[in-house]
Amino acid sequence: EKGGWSSFMAKEVAEQPEAVANTIRGRVQDGQVVIPELDGLDELFVGINRVIITACGTASYAALVGKYAIEQWARVATDVELAHEFRYRDPVIGDDTLVISISQSGETMDTLMAVKYARERGARTLSICNTQGATIPRESDAVVYTHAGPEVAVASTKAFSAQITALLLLGLHMGRVRSTLTDGTAVGELATLPEKIASVLEKEHDHVSQLASWMADTRSVLFLGRHVGYPIALEGALKLKEISYIHAEGFAAGELKHGPIALIEPGQPVFVIVPSPRHSALIHSKVVSNIQEIRARGARVIVVAEEGDAAVLPFADEVIHIPLAGAMFEPVLAVVPLQIFAMALATAKGLDVDQPRNLAKSVTVE
Ligand code: M6R
Repeated sequence: EKGGWSSFMAKEVAEQPEAVANTIRGRVQDGQVVIPELDGLDELFVGINRVIITACGTASYAALVGKYAIEQWARVATDVELAHEFRYRDPVIGDDTLVISISQSGETMDTLMAVKYARERGARTLSICNTQGATIPRESDAVVYTHAGPEVAVASTKAFSAQITALLLLGLHMGRVRSTLTDGTAVGELATLPEKIASVLEKEHDHVSQLASWMADTRSVLFLGRHVGYPIALEGALKLKEISYIHAEGFAAGELKHGPIALIEPGQPVFVIVPSPRHSALIHSKVVSNIQEIRARGARVIVVAEEGDAAVLPFADEVIHIPLAGAMFEPVLAVVPLQIFAMALATAKGLDVDQPRNLAKSVTVE
């Protein structure tokens, strides 16, 4: 039940520290990620030369974050394929391929068909799922459950942060099994993630909600991100489309001058997810110059940046802060204000945030 919350979505956004903590629990031992469900299944990860992550909607954006983590930590080429696209061509897969599927419900028909197809072709299969005993995990060789608890609102929030967490765990597990993991700080960072999410909720909830209520008449919002901020730009746009029915688009920031910058006119709201300069001064400077380019054309720039990132201040109309975190961990923090923004904007428009028009929680037809 909703408890004292105005909507299931509000409740589920607030439950994210717990969802992430529960997903990590029992999976870190002696400074290493060890996923008990994968015990004895090292052969899933050794001797593969390719990973394909398949999913739909929000789960496919979690998958995109997973691509960066698995490539960095487990050093294996990883691609993300929308389940409905993967299934309807003739993909080059075989027993040297690990196909990871991600699904909150575990019942999404497109994703289920992709898993079955991958198995028929001899690929190794692993699913990341939030629903115990659902069909997709039953059809897979192995499953890593997210422990986000039941998600009721149509717009996925806590399942998304738990999916990213599960992918980070899986990337670290694979890196250990494959002896490719050199990042000594990542495992320790996991434990700090729940409290950092709680701090974003506490510090930014009212600020972002107020921002949204001022923008209730906005007709279009753009989102830009680079590296792991790119999937978050896509997710921020999807949340807004789904529950506030506003035209929203997410772009890779580097694509701007290849087309999307033509959309910028005075007053156009643009969210920019800025990666920490501590991880890569180069990536950070590229995003800051993107901000300058859109600002010069009159965009209203709302930046999501690390606390203390002074470089963005002269060019931002609004700054939303997230705490310092490792590069792979930033997406779980950066998505939170975008969820709050979508929810507050929908509420300001008088819409039902839990039951948006035309959408079902689980898409069980192809
Ligand atoms: O249950 P699944 O994770 O397989 O669902 C996939 C998508 O249908 C789902 O994420 C959808 O995009 C959400 N409504 C997003 O908020």
